This record gives sequence, structure tokens and C-alpha cells, in this order.
Amino acid sequence: MTDIAQLQSEILAAVAGAADEAALETVRVGALGKKGSVSALLATMGGLSPDERKVQGPKFNGLKDAVTEAIAARKIQLTDAALDTRLASERLDVTLPVRPENSGTVHPISQVLEEVIAIFADLGFGVAEGPDVEYDDYNFTKLNIPPDHPARQMQDTFYVAPQKGDKADGASHVLRTHTSPVQVRTMLNTKPPIRVISPGRTYRVDSDATHSPMFHQVEALVVDEGIHLGHLKWTVEQFCKAFFEIDQIELRARPSFFPFTEPSLEWDMRCDRSVPGKITFGSGNDWLELGGSGMVHRKVLENCGIDSKKYQGFAFGFGLDRMAMLKYGMPDIRSFFESDLRWLKHYGFAALDIPTLDGGLSR
Ligand code: PHE
Repeated sequence: MTDIAQLQSEILAAVAGAADEAALETVRVGALGKKGSVSALLATMGGLSPDERKVQGPKFNGLKDAVTEAIAARKIQLTDAALDTRLASERLDVTLPVRPENSGTVHPISQVLEEVIAIFADLGFGVAEGPDVEYDDYNFTKLNIPPDHPARQMQDTFYVAPQKGDKADGASHVLRTHTSPVQVRTMLNTKPPIRVISPGRTYRVDSDATHSPMFHQVEALVVDEGIHLGHLKWTVEQFCKAFFEIDQIELRARPSFFPFTEPSLEWDMRCDRSVPGKITFGSGNDWLELGGSGMVHRKVLENCGIDSKKYQGFAFGFGLDRMAMLKYGMPDIRSFFESDLRWLKHYGFAALDIPTLDGGLSR
């Protein structure tokens, strides 16, 4: 009896004194393991007379239960304590500012693209995309520029050798010279009413301070019943006001020619260039060229399977890089694509400046 009580208090003291889970495990093996003190005591039961066993049995088992319970309770204590220590030592300070040396910037073209998409989204336009390597047919022929038309020369481009898997008629490919082939793709694939913009890369054989062999355009296309020049003018005006962030603008429409629009117009915006290196919009005696536009040519509608007696459309195509240059003051278009980190740091935008309709457009 005293032996049992003695043993129990010894073991419980060892359990309480175990500093970590490994130490507790040693205590457990020493008591309940095959060669442990409690197991050894239980093994003596076999040698007892039935009467003694009746008396001693419950005591032995009481000892075993008490030790088992004490070990389990201590184990929980130790696990909790270990977790607390980890939580304290591995704490992250989420309020620390980001490390400034690694911050990248958003390229001005991406910034301007987001701005344009946000403005047109507000006017109910979706975004349509097409490939950079385009069918000759979509870039030219379906847009009413037949193979020998001189307008092809105004948009000389990079011709791509016929690829395996081309259409059986030997369709040739070009790097698209404008985003207008996305008009064709959209009209071939969707029924009016159509209201989309298609921004993207375009290519021409051209290179100087205001021309790059690869540049960006944004196209707008609206096809519906009863569409007329007034809709075109209003849309260009709304877009320019929102993009250049001025309420008072003055637009000038000049007659122009594009094989795929009739009539065709080019748009200029009044500006002031009298102070060298600076441009202000809305007043002054200079005009700034925005891009081409017009009413979608009847033949183009028909080429794309749209009934030109029922539907009319307008389209325009503006240069995205030029718009970025004008809004944010970069003097040379070529620097956009040179990947000079100093230039990117200077003209780039912080990620959070990307505009959203609820967040606003200006930085
Ligand atoms: N695609 C023409 C260009 O690149 C611009 C344009 C677009 C003109 C849509 C009319 C309608 O010059």
C-alpha cells in the first residue's frame, strides 16, 4: 500500500517536472513502458492469491489510471506552451512598409490602356481582341482594300511566310497594320448591336521620334440601327474629355479617306504649343491630330455578313502611344520600348494608380 502511494507520488512529481515533450515521454516509458515501474508492479498480480488480488487489483489499476491521466494532462500543457512560444517568436509585423528598393512600375502604355478601357466601359463598350499576326484578308481585303489597292502601300508592313495549317486558299499573314481587322472579327462573330473597343499592338515599316515600327492603337466600333455621324462625334468628344481630364475641349473634323469608312474624318483637338516643351488643351492656336474615323463602309458591313440596309456603324482608331505621350509628356515614342530602367522609373506608375471606375482616373 505504502509502496503504491510512494510510487504514485514519485511518478506524478516526475510528470509535473517534465520540461518538454521528450522528457515527458521518458517518464512515460519509465512508468508505463514494457519494463516500466507500473508495468512491473502489475506483473506481480499473477503471483498473488485470489483474495489478495481482489484487494490489490483495484489499487494497481488506480495507480495506472492516475499516471496515464497525469501524463495526458501534462502533454496538453506542454503542447500549448510550445505553441505559445512559436506564436511569440514567429510573429509577423504586417504593418511594416514594403521594401522600396524592389518596387516596379506600371508601364505608361499599360496605364493609358487601363484608363481607356475604364472610360469606354463607362460608355457601355466591351473589349474585343485579335491576334498580332493577322490574315491579309482581314487586315486589308475585307476592309475594302483589295490586293492591288494603293492604300496598302500607305500601310506597308511585315509579311509573314505562309504557315502550316493555313486556310486552303493559301491565306497569307501580315503583322497587322492597324486594329481595324478586329472590326472584321467582331462583325463576323457577333450580331448587332455591337459596341466594342479593341486596343492592341500594330506594326508598320516606320521609325522616327513619333513613329515606331511597333505601336499601339485603340479601335472603337459601334454597329446598330440608325447610327449616324452625330453618335461618332459625341463618343469622340466624351472620350477626349474623360481621357485628357478637361471639360472644355474643341474638336475639329477634317474630311479624309479610308477605304473601309464612308464618309471618313480625321479628328484634331485644339491645343496650345506656344510654350516650348509644354502642351495645354482646350485653348490656343494649334491643333493636335487624334486619329481616323468614319461611318463603316457599306461594303465592309456586307463583307462581314451584316445587312447594310438595316444597320449602320461608325468606327475610329486612335494611337495609344501618342495619347500617352500627350497626356504624360514623353517627347520620343521610341523610348517607350527601349526598356531603360531610368525612363521606366521616371514615367512609370505605381500599381495603385491603375484607374478603376470607382477609384477615378487621375493620379
Ligand atoms: N485604321 C485606321 C488607321 O490605322 C484608322 C481608322 C480606324 C480609320 C477606324 C477609320 C475607322 O489609320
